[in-house]
Amino acid sequence: MDTSRWYARPCTTNPYRSSNTSFATTAPIAKYLNADYTFLNKPLADYYGIKADVKSTGAVGKINGANAFGRGGALRLGTVLTTTSAPLRTSPVKRGDWILRRILNTPMPPPPADAGSIPAGDKNFGGLSLHDKLEAHKRNATCANCHARIDPLGFPLENYDSTGRWRAQYADGKEIYNSGTTIDHADIHGTTGLLKYRDDRNEMFRKTLTTKLLGYALGRTALPSDLALMEQMVGEGPDDPFSKLAIDVVSSRQFRNHPAMRLPRQIL
Ligand code: HEC
Repeated sequence: MDTSRWYARPCTTNPYRSSNTSFATTAPIAKYLNADYTFLNKPLADYYGIKADVKSTGAVGKINGANAFGRGGALRLGTVLTTTSAPLRTSPVKRGDWILRRILNTPMPPPPADAGSIPAGDKNFGGLSLHDKLEAHKRNATCANCHARIDPLGFPLENYDSTGRWRAQYADGKEIYNSGTTIDHADIHGTTGLLKYRDDRNEMFRKTLTTKLLGYALGRTALPSDLALMEQMVGEGPDDPFSKLAIDVVSSRQFRNHPAMRLPRQIL
């Protein structure tokens, strides 16, 4: 079993540092998805095969110029790529589902109970590729209803293996299948194509972000009475900083009048 990833534990602090940097600095909202920096220590850089000048063996530090080695932004974080994989193989379905849900604000309903499954590791595919295995989705209209939306967004990330390491080919030497055609007829090739597709839909990401931020700040799901505030937040541009969204929230009527925000009587 490959245990090297256990030594790279800071991969769990890496997303916190990335998010904090987005939230606490003047970095534009769009940078959350497409930053040119990431956070690494030496074990993590070695694990991912990243040839950057990283010295710390403890705390992760900010490394600029991350795009040059295929990193930067939330989607190319090892944690995201790992949690959207099966234990012993990638899952373009889980990755595509994650993008629809967490970035494009268009979540898919859960799969029907009789949808079946595919083996947990790609060694058990009987010589078929992961793409061949999932092709059945296209032939069955019931499956295609959802999977024509999901799968094309996951395949472009196939160059990242199930723990987020870059790979030029599959373990059996076959060429990586890293393309997809979306239901809005966009042909996406590889990670660069996916980043472009996503950047062109930044407003959808701002909708997801707005819903999450508001839910977190108010401790409840958004209600129809929040629509005006949400529109205001989504209206902040991709080049505006996160702090603008935070100001929208804390200066809102719903935040200032939220019962949990009122101070206990004795300290008033
Ligand atoms: C209502 C939408 C929907 C429909 C219809 C649907 N699926 Fe899915 N399917 C999903 C979602 C969402 C997931 C991801 C669930 C998860 O996170 O594991 C999924 C996951 C899967 C997986 C697991 C993929 C993996 O990497 O482990 C398989 C296999 C699958 N579906 C096959 C099918 C087949 C075959 C059909 C048609 C009989 C079908 N699905 C119909 C939404 C759907």
